Amino acid sequence: MKHLIDPTDLTVEETNNIISLAEEIIANPEYFTARMAGKKLATLFYEPSTRTRLSFTSAMMELGGNVLGFSDPKSSSVSKGETVEDTVRVVGCFADIIAMRHFVEGAPYVASKVSPVPVINAGDGSHSHPTQTLTDLLTIKREIGRLDNLTVGFCGDLRFGRTVHSLIKALSRYHNNKVILIAPDELRLPDYIIQDVCVKNGVDYREVSTMEEVMPELDILYMTRVQKERFLDEDEFDRVKDSFILNLEKLATAKEKMAILHPLPRVNEIMKEVDADPRAAYFRQVANGKFVRMALLSRLIDWKDRPEHTMPEHPDYFVDRTMHCTNLKCISNVEGADPLFHRLDDGTVRCSYCESKIRR
Ligand code: CP
Repeated sequence: MKHLIDPTDLTVEETNNIISLAEEIIANPEYFTARMAGKKLATLFYEPSTRTRLSFTSAMMELGGNVLGFSDPKSSSVSKGETVEDTVRVVGCFADIIAMRHFVEGAPYVASKVSPVPVINAGDGSHSHPTQTLTDLLTIKREIGRLDNLTVGFCGDLRFGRTVHSLIKALSRYHNNKVILIAPDELRLPDYIIQDVCVKNGVDYREVSTMEEVMPELDILYMTRVQKERFLDEDEFDRVKDSFILNLEKLATAKEKMAILHPLPRVNEIMKEVDADPRAAYFRQVANGKFVRMALLSRLIDWKDRPEHTMPEHPDYFVDRTMHCTNLKCISNVEGADPLFHRLDDGTVRCSYCESKIRR
């Protein structure tokens, strides 16, 4: 069985297969209307969402399937203290596939370990958002025509931006993509993405402090919202919240064919005047999200009993009760999941739920 917890749970071939199927669905939607007849998707959303939850719902409906679940955990037995593990064991009796969003990092991974049906991570805290990544890849393919030889500028909240973390992981597996990181010091990309993804895979990356200095180079400008809900210190949020605001003046030096992406929602980081520019792809990106989730749901259900589509093995993962992850938003600190770690080639130990570095 294949779950989707991290973008690298899919091979590049499986990722391309899902993107191609999404393109087929866009071209011939009528051919897919009964594809999921009799199947049920459970959407378990412990954190707010508009696009991800509703696009999953719409995707399953378009495929002829049904949807159940909750969008507010207070309306479920989570409010009585039921754990993620028990919730998923129960929901797995009612649904053929589960999409879970959780504010706790690593929660969908823990769910996947006990679930009898495929689990899709619909965003876990600041960690990962692999279905947004599939949406972004499909959008890049449709807007620019390729997934390699790209220069991609990531701008804004690269520290807490789970969509950024996941997309950089995915782009690092295609040929010759270059990454430019545009963020203030407080919102820099986490070390685990720089070291374990960019450096390890030889991705050409650099960090800059303004979008203007790199605008002419970019094929993609990936804007992000500064996420107030992730800050522990409100003063720190106030200092950085208006760091980058894209307007038409700043776009003047951009390539004619550049695409502006944003996972949305936006607050003030893209001025409304940009929306009418042909390079503004963020609402087309939203529409792509439904089609790519249709393709993903179809494939994960098709692949469930196919031995060639199984989860990647992690033989290097180990439990060590003498160590602990210091990330208070990690499932190992919230629901007492077994402390699970892996060691990198350079000896660094990381939490296997949230990828935080373990200091001993
Ligand atoms: N892009 C995204 O995840 O949006 P929602 O939070 O509205 O689902």
